[in-house]
Order: sequence, then C-alpha cells, then structure tokens
Amino acid sequence: MNINQLANSFHLNGYVYIENFFDRNLMDTYQNKILDHFALDSSYKHDNDFIKKSDTDVIPWFPQNDGEKAFDGIEQDERLINLTESILGPGWKSLYCMVMYSNKLSNGQAWHQDCDPSNSNIFNLNRLIYTTDINKLSGGEVELIPGSHKKGIIPPISIGNDLDGGITIEPKKGSLLMLHGHLWHRVLPINKTIRVSTNYRCIPKGVPDNITDICVYRNMLYQFSDERVVEERI
Ligand SMILES: [Fe+2]
Repeated sequence: MNINQLANSFHLNGYVYIENFFDRNLMDTYQNKILDHFALDSSYKHDNDFIKKSDTDVIPWFPQNDGEKAFDGIEQDERLINLTESILGPGWKSLYCMVMYSNKLSNGQAWHQDCDPSNSNIFNLNRLIYTTDINKLSGGEVELIPGSHKKGIIPPISIGNDLDGGITIEPKKGSLLMLHGHLWHRVLPINKTIRVSTNYRCIPKGVPDNITDICVYRNMLYQFSDERVVEERI
C-alpha cells in the first residue's frame, strides 16, 4: 500500500476503496456484535417525516457510547491512522464510530452529500468498514460520482432523476471505503438481507464537530439535531 498514492487518488476522486484491509476474523467479531445489538433493537431512530422525505432507511448505532470496547480496535489501527493523516494532514481528529443498519427490502440512501460543500476545506471524512459482503445479489451497493466533491452542491431533483458519471462499488467483507463528505453518493436499495456498514468519521483540523448536522439531499437540506428541513430544494 503506497500511502501517498492513495492520498493523491483520494483528493483527485473524492474516494478511495481498498479490499482486504481488515482481517476476516476481526470482521466476524464486529459483525456478530452488530447483529446481537440489532436483534435487540432495530427500531428506527429517525423520525418518520425524515425517512419518507429523504428516502433513507438507516438505523444508526454508536457502539462506543454503549461501552463496546471492541470497536476501538479499528480506530487505533496504525495503517488506518497513517492513511487518514496523509489525507487530512496533522491535527485531524476522530468524531465517532457509527454503525449503519438497514432492514431487508429497504430503500438504502438517496443521493446526498454529508455536509455543505461551499467551502472546500470544511468537510468530514467517512471511513467505512464492511463486515460482510455487499454485492448485486444483496443490494445496498454504493454508487458515487468520482470527482464530484469538487463540483459544488448536488443538483436538485428538478434537473432530472439521473446523475451522469456514477460508478457502483460492491464493498467486500474486510474492505475500507473512504469517502469525502462533499462527494455525491447514494446507497442502492437492499434486497432480501439486512445491510450493515460501520463508519469511523473524522475531520481535518479546524472543522467543527457538528459538520454533518446538516445533510444535503437533492430535495432538501436536513438538520438532524433539530429534526427539521432547513431548506426545500427545487
Ligand atoms: Fe453519506
């Protein structure tokens, strides 16, 4: 793994995808903990208006807040730390680990940007870990538009349903997908199985902790802390 090449590729394309980054046994440990948690509690945490309007079917879980020490391991992985540092520069910091769970036959996530793209220096970094294979059969593949993190705000829905230039990633168990918060991306609908991904979010130096509080969808800007639509987009 050439860290400088990966960092350059990230800045050019807004993402980097690496297979076999994590040990399969470690992925099984994480996956089992995730399944145990959601077997007990798979109720939606977002309010219904949001789910309907955002077309996003995700149940978040913050395992470290529940004292799940096992999830500290990946956060402390030296290769991950070095790669993050080469992308974000010194002074970056971790925000949290968020597991994202979607029920079978759910919608995935509509096209969005994680945060306001108006200042190119102010963004979050998603470090997505896949504890199980995601592919055409399972559904829930990630679609993204390479380079779109430099194209400003994602076009509103009135421009037309399709966005050009997308590629589809089928993340394998043990893979790492790093996504720039300004990148245009979505998750395709999920088929007959549940979907899990785990996001170790972090930010460059000087970026506020609540950077992802307002998410940019094609039909609205949505603020999670207040559970409200900040702006309708047409
Ligand atoms: Fe996202």
